[in-house]
Amino acid sequence: MAANRVDLLLLLLEIEMDRRRFLTLAGTAGAVGLRSPISRAWAAAGGVAPSVSGALRPLARRHPLGVPEVVSAADLTLAARPATVDIGRGATEAWTLNGALPSPTIRVRRGERASILLENSLPEPTILHWHGLDVPEAADGHPRLAIATGDSYQYDFTVEDRAGLYWYHPHTHGRTGAQTYQGMAGLIVVEDDEESALGLPSGELDLPIVLQDKRLGDGTSLAYERSMGPDVMYGYLGDTAVANGVVDGTVEVHRTGYRLRLLNASNARVFELGLSDGRPLTLIGTDGGLLERPVTLDRIMMGTGERADVLVDFSSMEPGERVYLRSFEFQIPGMMGMMGGRGMGGGGMGRGRGMHAMMGGLPQGAAMDLVEFVASDAPAETARPASDVLSSVPRIELESGAPRRTFRFESAMMQHTINGRSFEMERVDVRVPRGQPERWIIENTSGLPHPVHIHVGQFQVLARAGGRNRVMPWETGLKDTVLVWPEERVEVGVHFRTHRGLFLMHCHNLEHEDMGMMLNFEVE
Ligand code: C2O
Ligand code: CU
Ligand code: CU
Repeated sequence: MAANRVDLLLLLLEIEMDRRRFLTLAGTAGAVGLRSPISRAWAAAGGVAPSVSGALRPLARRHPLGVPEVVSAADLTLAARPATVDIGRGATEAWTLNGALPSPTIRVRRGERASILLENSLPEPTILHWHGLDVPEAADGHPRLAIATGDSYQYDFTVEDRAGLYWYHPHTHGRTGAQTYQGMAGLIVVEDDEESALGLPSGELDLPIVLQDKRLGDGTSLAYERSMGPDVMYGYLGDTAVANGVVDGTVEVHRTGYRLRLLNASNARVFELGLSDGRPLTLIGTDGGLLERPVTLDRIMMGTGERADVLVDFSSMEPGERVYLRSFEFQIPGMMGMMGGRGMGGGGMGRGRGMHAMMGGLPQGAAMDLVEFVASDAPAETARPASDVLSSVPRIELESGAPRRTFRFESAMMQHTINGRSFEMERVDVRVPRGQPERWIIENTSGLPHPVHIHVGQFQVLARAGGRNRVMPWETGLKDTVLVWPEERVEVGVHFRTHRGLFLMHCHNLEHEDMGMMLNFEVE
């Protein structure tokens, strides 16, 4: 405890100093129109953070990437219970839904009814939330609806959302981090006619992947052991990538075009995604479904909770050739000292303990390989290019006089707050009229990144000032989570058109959320 306290104080001091150093840099550089060396580098690289490539070596032992079990939403029972699972290195205890890791993938067509019974056989209360879906209040998994051990909860709703990748996870107040980390998280794939008509890669060429990091060291334990220091400040960062519940996951791919549907379901880890050989990613969709047009990118940055729907062309690979879906090294403005100062970047071998263990996992921004793709020796087939026009994205039209509200995300003295307050279960923080579009301004005045999530449907990112200073290419569609770096101010257009009731806005760094970086808004 005493050691923890010292660690904690040192950490607070360091964060504060990093923040000041950043502010000083920002101030000086501002005079010549540049915010900081980091944002200059961002700008020079076309908005992509500078990275160190080739730092990772293929790992010797690889495990076939599991494809999660697919279930229908029509009459589904999800039993929350401890179970023994295999994460590739051997058996381990997890908290699961129906014994599966990751949780089963729910496949549903737009317009279909979902009838889902949650049964709680965990030793503590739980409740599930359908992240990104526009569902009624009673189906949204607000923490006040958490059910005790032995109880069950019935969800009934119609899936009105656009085709795309959504997901589900627990939302128990103070325990979302623990329950999600220990294994409860699954995908929801929504399909519709518009999307089916596009002829996107399907069947085994459509590969949904749940990306996470876990703190495994060389072992297998998924136990969530949060310290009072760094884990509370930075969130629960891991040291090992886990994809679809498997460590060192590998997939044998046909030499043709694939659709990879990626979810960052980590507790706190931000990914700077790319392919190890520089092969481009064609982004076709994000949180709220398809983009208007495909966009070709080398890198996509994903905060926790965000999704990326990408096409990848493996047709030029030689049989047996390997390529890695990698999170490249990056630096967080405002946290510069953390990477450089401690010399913890370390080439990101993904295996180090020592300092990393003490600090709790690899630092934010460390490189890690997430999935290996090995080309099969079947004949190559030309990948079908994505069609030029994918969809029409419903825009949120804001009049100049639209109501605006500001939300300041702050982290100081081991507290994570919004507008200076921490979450209270029954307090209504904001009242929003239904059907009236509004401009919400999210300010990050802390030295930490905050992926900000708003419940009950999708919003539109309108502008970003400070930091990266623009709307990123992967933020042009509909979004339910937006990553806000230190010193950034992001404007989003929200429009709650369907359901009245009490919903949440929070940081999707699950430790920040659990510590109270969350508020209630009432749609009236
Ligand atoms: Cu994915 Cu309120 O959460
Ligand atoms: Cu959500
Ligand atoms: Cu946060």
